[in-house]
Formats: sequence, structure tokens, C-alpha cells
Amino acid sequence: MAFTDKPHLILLFMMSSTLILFVSVLDLSNASAETPSSGADGFLPLAEKHVVIRNKVRNKQILNVHCKSKSDDFGMIHIPWNGTWGFRFHVNLWKTTKYHCHFTWYKGGSHYFYIFKASRDDKEFGDPPVCKECIWDVGRSVENPVCRVPRDPKDDPYCFKWEDGP
Ligand SMILES: *[C@@H]1O[C@H](CO)[C@@H](O)[C@H](O)[C@H]1NC(C)=O
Repeated sequence: MAFTDKPHLILLFMMSSTLILFVSVLDLSNASAETPSSGADGFLPLAEKHVVIRNKVRNKQILNVHCKSKSDDFGMIHIPWNGTWGFRFHVNLWKTTKYHCHFTWYKGGSHYFYIFKASRDDKEFGDPPVCKECIWDVGRSVENPVCRVPRDPKDDPYCFKWEDGP
């Protein structure tokens, strides 16, 4: 059995790597063709994203942020008031990338929010629209604690409530 299984595995491996290679080549050709029309906010798979968190808590305290995904964990970060912190990553091929964050600040309680969710932030014709540079204001108000800053400052921010914990 063991001898007959091995060629199967090798074949399977070759087939799947060929498929992945093929898909990547397709992505690359799409990317170069689409860049002019889709501008900076490409929604293509594997697009690079930059998430930025701005500390806007009303009592001007330090904002403690702990963000992680299935594969990344940025540890506890302390953002001074009116300061920013961010990270870069690529959306995965299946567009299931998500970064969940825990926010705390003195007298501000403990809250959770998906600071990036491909299903919300990388969805064509979505509301909010696709972002490449995804800037979030945190803590500005109790009713609208997390707001994505629009590209055009004349537009209204896209605000959300806190979400559930892990
Ligand atoms: C907050 O930061 C922004 C951008 O760095 C700056 O323009 C603004 O003056 C700051 N506000 C206060 C009140 O410090």
C-alpha cells in the first residue's frame, strides 16, 4: 500500500501547485490590467492593505490595542491620544482575511471590533467601499465608537458599534 500511495501523493502535490501557480498568474495579469480603472483601492485577491488606527478617545487616555488574525498577532500596542498605529498585510486568495482587535483605555471599558474583514472592507460595491489604506478613528463617541474615515473628507465617516468578543 505504502508504495502505491506515494506516486498518488506526488501527483496530487504537482496538480495543486500547478493550480496555485495558474491562479497567481491570473491574479497578476488582472492586477496590471485593472490598476488604472480601479485606482488605489483594488479589491483583487492578494491586494495589499494598510490598516491605521487613530486614538480619538474622548477622555484623551492612551488606547491599548491588541489585534490578531489566524496567522498574525501584533501583541499589545499602546497608542497615545491623537496618535496612530497601523499594520500591513495581503488579503488571502479566498478573501477570508480578518483581523480582530481588543480595545481598552482608562475608564473606557473593554471592547472588540474586527478592524479588517475582507467581507466588509474588500467587497466590490460594498458599504463601506473597498479600502487600501483603511483608516479608523476609535472612541470619538459612545454611539459611534469605531468609524472608517472616508477618502474624501467631505463624505461622512462609516461608523460601527462595538462587536462581540472572541
Ligand atoms: C491631532 O493630530 C493631527 C494629525 O497629526 C494634528 O493635525 C492635530 O493638530 C492633532 N490634534 C490635537 C488636538 O493635538
